[in-house]
Amino acid sequence: MRLYEELAPWFHLLPRPDDYADEAERYRRLILDACPGARTLVELGAGGGNNASHLKAHFTCTLADVSPQMLSVSRRLNPECEHVLGDMRTMRLGRTFDAVFVHDAVVYLTSADELSDAVKTAYTHTRSGGVALFVPDYTRETFPGEGVDTGGHDADDGRSLRYLEWTYDPDPHDTTYEVDYAVLLREPGRATRAVHDHHVEGLFPEHTWLTLLERAGFRATVDPGQGAGSPQPAFVGLRPR
Ligand SMILES: C[S@@+](CC[C@H](N)C(=O)[O-])C[C@H]1O[C@@H](n2cnc3c(N)ncnc32)[C@H](O)[C@@H]1O
Repeated sequence: MRLYEELAPWFHLLPRPDDYADEAERYRRLILDACPGARTLVELGAGGGNNASHLKAHFTCTLADVSPQMLSVSRRLNPECEHVLGDMRTMRLGRTFDAVFVHDAVVYLTSADELSDAVKTAYTHTRSGGVALFVPDYTRETFPGEGVDTGGHDADDGRSLRYLEWTYDPDPHDTTYEVDYAVLLREPGRATRAVHDHHVEGLFPEHTWLTLLERAGFRATVDPGQGAGSPQPAFVGLRPR
């Protein structure tokens, strides 16, 4: 995906780290409600480290991602956090954490088998009595259908980015939907350029999420979306003692 490779240095001009404060607070609360006193956290698919830039005030964070370019972006924002290269379907660090957090990166798993592999990775890295928190953008039930979003920001170094994100679902009976990004990039001394990126993303019913979490060994519940500031459903898996 071009967004997480060649466009990685522009990532913090799509959403800004500040834009994540409210939702990160929701995730902090869900983690501590399930696992009071949690201190260590690993995030699978941490991307640019936007959520982590808030969570690191409360947890010692290890940030994993499959893209070396995105790890570099996050390292600059979160130099005090450990960063590791890893695919959430297969990564094995050989240690456990109080909390495992998986945010929107999970949408890049497009089959139930891939999602099951990521849930197993989370279980393997959750200590007994610990919690795993999964926050996909949508479930099949909450998917709003076709829609367009726009945004972008200006950097202090003169660079500017604006994007249009067009979401649609060509086949409502399968486990994917599609997103096209049209991104305009401006930087001093260069003509404005346009980049198109096409993403295929996973979409699963709530029942699939809960079944896969329970099958891996978690006790699973779902926290419904919390209005406009944090509309995503959050799946909480408690690893029994
Ligand atoms: C939208 S970004 C995540 C942003 C993040 N939520 C934040 O707070 O900055 C999605 C990330 O998922 C990563 N990703 C996609 N598939 C992955 C996989 N199988 N394992 C780990 N990371 C993955 C991409 O490299 C990208 O960095």
